Amino acid sequence: MKDKPWSGRFKQDTDLRVERFSESVSLDKRLYREDIEGSVAHARMLCNTGIITEVEAEAIITGLNNIRKDIDEGVFSFDPALEDVHMNIEAELTRKIGEAGKKLHTARSRNDQVATDFKMYVRGCLKEVRRELKGIMETLIEQADRHVDTIVPGMTHLQHAQPVSFAHHLLAYYEMFLRDYSRIDDTLKRLNTSPLGSAALAGTPHLIDREMTSSALGFDEPCRNSMDAVSDRDFAIEAVFDASIIMMHLSRMAEEIIIWNSSPFSFVELSDAFTTGSSIMPQKKNPDVAELVRGKVGGVYGNLIALLTMMKSLPLAYNRDMQEDKHPVISSMDTVLACLEIMNGLIGALELNKESLDTSLNRGFITATDVADYLAEKGLAFRDAHRITGELVSWLIRQGRALSDLCLDEFRSFSDRFDEGILSVISPQRSVDRRMSFGGTARENVRKALADARERLAGLEKNI
Ligand code: ARG
Repeated sequence: MKDKPWSGRFKQDTDLRVERFSESVSLDKRLYREDIEGSVAHARMLCNTGIITEVEAEAIITGLNNIRKDIDEGVFSFDPALEDVHMNIEAELTRKIGEAGKKLHTARSRNDQVATDFKMYVRGCLKEVRRELKGIMETLIEQADRHVDTIVPGMTHLQHAQPVSFAHHLLAYYEMFLRDYSRIDDTLKRLNTSPLGSAALAGTPHLIDREMTSSALGFDEPCRNSMDAVSDRDFAIEAVFDASIIMMHLSRMAEEIIIWNSSPFSFVELSDAFTTGSSIMPQKKNPDVAELVRGKVGGVYGNLIALLTMMKSLPLAYNRDMQEDKHPVISSMDTVLACLEIMNGLIGALELNKESLDTSLNRGFITATDVADYLAEKGLAFRDAHRITGELVSWLIRQGRALSDLCLDEFRSFSDRFDEGILSVISPQRSVDRRMSFGGTARENVRKALADARERLAGLEKNI
């Protein structure tokens, strides 16, 4: 019979189909660094508490470090018959160092091992995501700095609404990513308790020191309840939720880039380096990167639902269902990191097509609100001002003309409150600069907002 760490009470080999069905090593081998770090901390603690000798601890730690080297170098062969990364490493350790290796599993179980490894893995990924978020925020600030004076049509319902500084538009995404960053900070705070030493579910009679392993592995404290420790996957769900919101933000940005790059808009020029061609239509330069980001969002949302559903109704404590946590988390973390990185590049290389923007701004009625505000400032009730401006717009639409085509007399035929001041009121630049309310798009505001954004970003660095 094949020897397995748990084979004592078994008389028959595992059916090969069960081995194939239940193995997780093909995925959880990604956790080998965390698994080894956890085992080293556990061995040191076992030695410190007198459960194993110093000689044994030394042998274990050297053995584990050699295994890490083998895996790093790609010469370790993982055996699916040994189910997961934990049993593969432990079995290899015992093969390498003999008796001492068998003592490593004192006062721990795979249930706390997997929870500990996975928390450490997710913690590492989230820190990488934070770094990527910082990178994209830096790029947004750089681009915004270049475009304070670039006026673009601000939209609602994808229709021209009011002109805005392009920097203001970009800084809206900065705010989203800053919230994402702080959401991850929160997740990291809640995640950071150590399950190690909870043993299978009830704790252990061995006199272990959970504080010691907890602080060696960078946790704030040991989990308070051994049953919760081994069966909690909130941190995984939260991490994928954080990733989902980031993906949602990225998809909004991707969608805007696709629209701005579309033939009818042609507001932006995407860099050749970040676009692809068509195999048949020679004129094409496609925004595939943005489309792929948009397309990948569904996968991450799906992962979130998969995790929530996997955990739903699970009785305490560990159940094997929980092994299904690896794929959704690993794939979401890989996806969000790749998307942040590529969108950072795409945004950094974005060029604006000023001519199309100017044509678009001057073609329609984007400063109609300013006309209504002007009449209100001249003493009309805003509702009356709104109605008169609406009539004016409707009259212009019938004639196929724009606000900027109107002369003073024509304005005055709608209301005698109009005077020559109206001709400058309809300028998009002026419209932007009058929006001085806190958080508004006036260029003076936007310059301050940029300085403030830089400051808040610098504040983040201190916490990393
Ligand atoms: N491979 C398992 C997982 O990922 C490790 C824990 C297994 N524990 C058990 N009692 N079968 O969840």
